[in-house]
Amino acid sequence: MTSKKFQLTNPANGRSTELAAHQGSVGPDALDISALLKDQGVFTYDPGFMATAATASAITYIDGDAGVLLYRGYPIEQLAQHSNFLEVSYLLQKGELPSSKALALFTTSISRHTMLNEWIMRLYRGFHHDAHPMAMVATIVASLAAFYHDSTDIYDDRHRVIFSHRMIAKLPTIAAAAYKHALGQPHMYPRNDLDYTGNLLQMLFAVPCESYAVDPLHAKALDLLFILHADHEQNASTSTVRLAGSTGCNPYTAMSAGVSALWGPAHGGANEAVVDMLEKIGDVSRVPEFLARVKDSKGGVRLMGFGHRVYKNFDPRATIIREMCHKVLGRLGQSDNPLFELALKLEEVALKDDYFISRKLYPNVDFYSGIIYRAVGIPRSMFTVMFAIARTAGWVAHWQEMIADPEMRIARPRQLYTGPTRRDYVPVSKR
Ligand code: CMC
Repeated sequence: MTSKKFQLTNPANGRSTELAAHQGSVGPDALDISALLKDQGVFTYDPGFMATAATASAITYIDGDAGVLLYRGYPIEQLAQHSNFLEVSYLLQKGELPSSKALALFTTSISRHTMLNEWIMRLYRGFHHDAHPMAMVATIVASLAAFYHDSTDIYDDRHRVIFSHRMIAKLPTIAAAAYKHALGQPHMYPRNDLDYTGNLLQMLFAVPCESYAVDPLHAKALDLLFILHADHEQNASTSTVRLAGSTGCNPYTAMSAGVSALWGPAHGGANEAVVDMLEKIGDVSRVPEFLARVKDSKGGVRLMGFGHRVYKNFDPRATIIREMCHKVLGRLGQSDNPLFELALKLEEVALKDDYFISRKLYPNVDFYSGIIYRAVGIPRSMFTVMFAIARTAGWVAHWQEMIADPEMRIARPRQLYTGPTRRDYVPVSKR
């Protein structure tokens, strides 16, 4: 990290501060304002982190104007075409693509950590049958802290590795158990002879009384979606994991905080909201009427799956998923899938409309992902859970990077106070 120097002079007192603008390997410089309070007595103010880099990171790079997404330097398009989710998980954590031996060892380690302590399975029984699976997943992930005491010394390299492998390995088991609980069906144990997404599919859809064959097309489609969702630099859930983790808390609880942050409809919950929206619109003939409501400033309606804080041209993940929708639906004999037709029409009309053009709103990763999840049989309530399984790869990579960073300190934002100034307490009888 090299630095350019900026001089900032406070016109009120003439005092100068020299600010370093750190240069990353690519992308905008970042002005180091950490001395501002000491030198000038002022904070910076940036609600929503519009222009604030909360950390340095070497994991993922996004160029929002050019629609570029790189994991450890590798373009998402190349990884989507040639890699698989476990290799991408390794890449995110370790920084380099694995040798075939390293990949085999990593894959074996993940498959050896897929089971859950049987006492954890009992926790599911405390949930009502209609509990949202994200609520169950957040709870069960946090509860891992109460079971796996041998991997919680965050300053021990080996513990950190075991923790990370456990997270990636157990998320599908935790997710599938939440689904089975809602159905009232027996939980299916993981099968280590299957690959990562094949195993997830059997835990979701197999039952003990019948044999189940994984559809390789379904497994491949899920694997591709998982690659695309694996990381996205300092998004809200990853930042939540980092913020919680910066306190030195048990890492499983930091991951649970990430799951909770992901659930919101502005973030990972959008895939569920998109399908809700498409079903409510119902027919291509209602697209103009729906978009009129979105554009009405008093309507409070958003075109879900559109817009992104960083992408202001196109989201490369949406482009890949749109292509994949064509392929998957075609191969499943659902080329005329009405939801997909409706989504294509919405995109076509919105992209010609000045409201969306002027605000640089384009389809994001969630606009089409729910259509594929549905096509492979994943129920809507599980869409965000699928996102959580994939993003776990990014969360553990960022958590590991943060803990190993010598600059790591507790994340403690400041505020611009706008409340009452000092006043004296008035007894209730005198109010
Ligand atoms: N539909 C209609 N108008 C929108 C939309 C949308 N989806 N997104 C942004 N706008 C408008 C917004 O009303 C505002 O207009 P104005 O300037 O007239 O007030 C302008 O565009 C800027 O919006 P913003 O809310 O200030 O932008 P943001 O960067 O804070 O929010 C976002 C980004 C993703 C939360 C937002 O675009 C959104 O709510 N999209 C819909 C939800 C969604 O699809 N989320 C998934 C994001 S990608 C996956 C992930 O991160 O997990």
